[in-house]
Amino acid sequence: MIDLRSDTVTKPTEAMRAAMARAEVGDDVYGEDPVVAELEERVAGMFGKEAALFTPTGSMANVLAVRTLVEPGQEVLCESAAHIARAELGAHGALSGITMRTWYDPRGQIDLPTIAAMFAPDLGPFFVRTTAIAVENTHNFAGGAVLPIEDLEALRAFADGVGTRIHLDGARIWNAHVATGTALSEYGAIADVLAVCLSKGLGAPVGSLVVGTADAIAESRIRRKRLGGGMRQVGILAAAGLHALDHHVERLAEDHAHARLLAEACGVDPASVPTNIVVVPRDDAQGFVAAAREQGVLVSAVGAKAVRLVTHLDVSKTDAEQAAAVLARL
Ligand SMILES: Cc1ncc(COP(=O)(O)O)c(C=O)c1O
Repeated sequence: MIDLRSDTVTKPTEAMRAAMARAEVGDDVYGEDPVVAELEERVAGMFGKEAALFTPTGSMANVLAVRTLVEPGQEVLCESAAHIARAELGAHGALSGITMRTWYDPRGQIDLPTIAAMFAPDLGPFFVRTTAIAVENTHNFAGGAVLPIEDLEALRAFADGVGTRIHLDGARIWNAHVATGTALSEYGAIADVLAVCLSKGLGAPVGSLVVGTADAIAESRIRRKRLGGGMRQVGILAAAGLHALDHHVERLAEDHAHARLLAEACGVDPASVPTNIVVVPRDDAQGFVAAAREQGVLVSAVGAKAVRLVTHLDVSKTDAEQAAAVLARL
């Protein structure tokens, strides 16, 4: 089976497993795991931030990150198909008491005039107040769309002007960085807080980080424990993350090339595929998924009329070519 359902399906490489086996560990709830500390410090530095916190999942990282900016009873603005709005089971409402309003952009982009019109300043004890704007880069459900750094900078200028703050869901920020050459620190500079994942394109089995100010991270450390996310000898997983940062970032360019190859085979303009996700319009999405499976290719339906293909570390060029041939026939 060639598995194109998600870049989360990767299995740790032999070299990654060896790094995990070698990891020196300690109890991270006591702050004694040296490899977790190394990972947190390194990732904070990559984004030009003071501190970072290792979490089991991207969803938990998003919940903690948004909560550092938004108090219960306040709101965050985001795009309508953002992962925080669509795919975290209402966690920000259920766990943090936060409401959301969304703008709609099928390309997952920042719509600054609409955001400006939606933004609600503190109008006293009658209205919900906007205390953060969340953006997703790359945007998963918009086909791995990249948010241009100029648009992010314009959003930052807007946020500074009105006194609000920015969360960046960077589950796949590495893909945006490799696709555009924009430095990770530039992405860090436009955001007050970020959530970044090691378990997507980078191929680690587990792990994400909240990245931000020392205060935000100290606060998130307490909330992580409250959520049941205090982990013990977890350097074994952080070692996988460090290995991924050393070996699996630049190679994302291969995934992007494979995605363009698949796009072409499916009649999608490769120029519209900036990273590792291809969304193919199909009236019979479920039927297409079943037929592809019969022929050894796993893809997923996203909605009734769209199929999603995601390339990753465990899809070689030969796999991509084989899958392209199958999908083109279908
Ligand atoms: C953009 C984005 N943010 C956050 C997440 C959540 O990550 P996790 O599955 O580790 O909770 C995902 C997962 O695919 C994602 O695509």
